[in-house]
Amino acid sequence: MHTMNVVTSWPGMQSETADNLHEVIEMENIWPTILGKITNGIYVLTTSYKEEINGMIISWVSQVSYEPPLVMVAIHPNRYCHDMVKQSGCFALHILSRNQADLIGHFKGPDPGAKFKTIKWNKGNETGCPILKKCIAYMECEVQANHSPGNHTLFIGKVKNARVLSDDECLSTLDYSGTYLGKN
Ligand SMILES: Cc1cc2nc3c(=O)[nH]c(=O)nc-3n(C[C@H](O)[C@H](O)[C@H](O)COP(=O)(O)O)c2cc1C
Repeated sequence: MHTMNVVTSWPGMQSETADNLHEVIEMENIWPTILGKITNGIYVLTTSYKEEINGMIISWVSQVSYEPPLVMVAIHPNRYCHDMVKQSGCFALHILSRNQADLIGHFKGPDPGAKFKTIKWNKGNETGCPILKKCIAYMECEVQANHSPGNHTLFIGKVKNARVLSDDECLSTLDYSGTYLGKN
């Protein structure tokens, strides 16, 4: 078996002992490769604050509790959505179908109006966040807590309303050639 001994420069991280191959690789070189091997869903997060709406692609998402139903999203403070979620205390998370990969390019850029111009959506019943008419499922969430352990803010949202609209296969990082590194 080919085992690699990775000696890193990451403080506090233990290096593994290799069986037969000893290689020294700096953390910063292997980190993008490792991140690229983590499989995540690719979602659209939407939010609204006062009269403004916005949406972004997000992949750092996790379920954190079944009862009560809690999900976590990690948002970089540079994102325009970040402060909107912080101020409004709500977001909606959409699970996308594999044939919605075009939305990855669509939900980019500084103009929220442009993001929603060609997308059909309704106002969420519980939060008022935009709910995409086309998606596999969505959850409307109320922020219960936020933590900033690193360069992203972890927003823990309690699911207030959820619907399943299709049983298509879900879009994930396996369908995406890039890697979201979360650097900035
Ligand atoms: C596949 C993919 C995954 C992403 N995941 C995240 C994420 O988990 N957290 C985050 O803050 N940004 C993530 N981004 C970056 C944001 O989607 C991007 O910066 C977006 O333009 C932010 O929109 P806003 O500034 O209008 O809020 C991701 C981008 C892509 C393409």
